Amino acid sequence: MQPVARIELLQGDITKLPVDAIVNAANTSLLGGGGVDGAIHRAAGPELLAECRTLGGCPTGGARLTKGYRLPARYVIHTAGPVYRDPQKSAVLLKSCYRNCLDLAVKHGIRTIAFPAISCGVYGYPVEDACRIAVDTTLDFLARNEHLKKVVFVLFSRRNHDVYRSYLQALGWPH
Ligand code: APR
Repeated sequence: MQPVARIELLQGDITKLPVDAIVNAANTSLLGGGGVDGAIHRAAGPELLAECRTLGGCPTGGARLTKGYRLPARYVIHTAGPVYRDPQKSAVLLKSCYRNCLDLAVKHGIRTIAFPAISCGVYGYPVEDACRIAVDTTLDFLARNEHLKKVVFVLFSRRNHDVYRSYLQALGWPH
């Protein structure tokens, strides 16, 4: 199926999704935080933090896999997005987040994965720019990886959802 047709868009809470893996917009310590990180840890329960403690952190742009515990998702893929400062450097790091999460997913036979808007909250990344990086990186990856069946972009706010929707529709997104 065409890459763009394997993308879904949702407005809602990523912790509710029964996909193979949800992505956590964490920080480099992987020891929890606010935003989507806090929501995922609350929903997954204390075993998630216990497993995260064994990972020794995660560099910005990197990705680490854990179980999902009490989440409906089987796995959590944790990534640390860039704090938005220098646009060029941040763009390269944000692209690495998406690509490394997708690479790790395929390595573990994960076929459905959901992303929040990494770095678009506390880390201050302008959602219009982040959306293009997220979608372009994902489409390029999907074109080279038949194995990955579905990528869901889950936006918490209506505004962010509409930013993704208009960009996807400009690319011929069929929904
Ligand atoms: N489901 C989906 N998206 C969510 C949820 C949720 N339950 N909660 C928040 N979001 C959205 C936010 O609205 C924002 O658009 O996720 C996006 C990412 O925002 P943050 O969670 O603030 O993440 P980020 O900007 O990457 O900052 C990471 O914040 O929580 C700390 O420990 C985390 O230090 C790290 C930093």
